[in-house]
Amino acid sequence: RASVKKITTGSQALDGLLGGGIETRTMTELFGEFGSGKTQICHQVSVNVQLPSEKGGLSGKALYIDTEGTFRTERIKAMASALGLDPKEVLQNIMSIRAINTDHQIAIVEELQDIISKDNTIKLVVVDSITSHFRAEYSGRENLAVRQQKLNRHLHQLVRLAEIYDLAVIVTNQVMARPDMFYGDPTVAVGGHTLYHVPGIRVQIKKSRGNRRIARMVDAPHLPEGEVVFSITNTGIRD
Ligand code: GTP
Ligand code: MG
Repeated sequence: RASVKKITTGSQALDGLLGGGIETRTMTELFGEFGSGKTQICHQVSVNVQLPSEKGGLSGKALYIDTEGTFRTERIKAMASALGLDPKEVLQNIMSIRAINTDHQIAIVEELQDIISKDNTIKLVVVDSITSHFRAEYSGRENLAVRQQKLNRHLHQLVRLAEIYDLAVIVTNQVMARPDMFYGDPTVAVGGHTLYHVPGIRVQIKKSRGNRRIARMVDAPHLPEGEVVFSITNTGIRD
């Protein structure tokens, strides 16, 4: 694990929970209810990956697969400016791709192998959200087996990209406010509670007062369990 690199989230507390930041060579799942801040963290890390290593980045580019149409160039620019970076340049270093359905989303990831092998400056791949199209297209219990099989294959392809190319992968997964209430009912959230069949790091994000959020590490093999508080501010993710 010595060669694993980390990308700062902008919050020291959240970085601490993650053992230093979002890791390369692994997939990090952010799960939580609507408005919990999953997309905001994805935006922030897409900016921060571009920072030099002494500032918590990897001097790299990001690839952002947007399944819900929630990628915001204005938000990226605001986050970049707050860090003293050139907003236009930062935006150019984030390739955002809108995925319109599951087949499109899967095809994009299949093509990433080719794109990334030709551009070793790509250090982050985001899929926001990994589950929304699957949930919409394969609703109902009778579709569960095929949905899960397709999703697992898709997730494993992302994990392989992370491992082969030493990059970070972040996927988001919207779940209900109280997933424990629905745990065991696979029709409620696609991967069930979380995407627990696939290796990686799982972080639950919960709303707290105002702009405060709680992040909780869920059964990470090499990280301690725990909770931290961070904020979503006008300048981005902060303590
Ligand atoms: P879903 O995609 O619906 O599951 O939610 P999400 O977890 O992706 O939530 P998202 O990251 O979109 O968080 C939305 C929240 O971030 C908003 O409710 C605001 O609280 C906060 N937010 C977004 N933009 C700004 C901003 O420019 N300034 C501040 N202060 N907060 C913001
Ligand atoms: Mg979102």
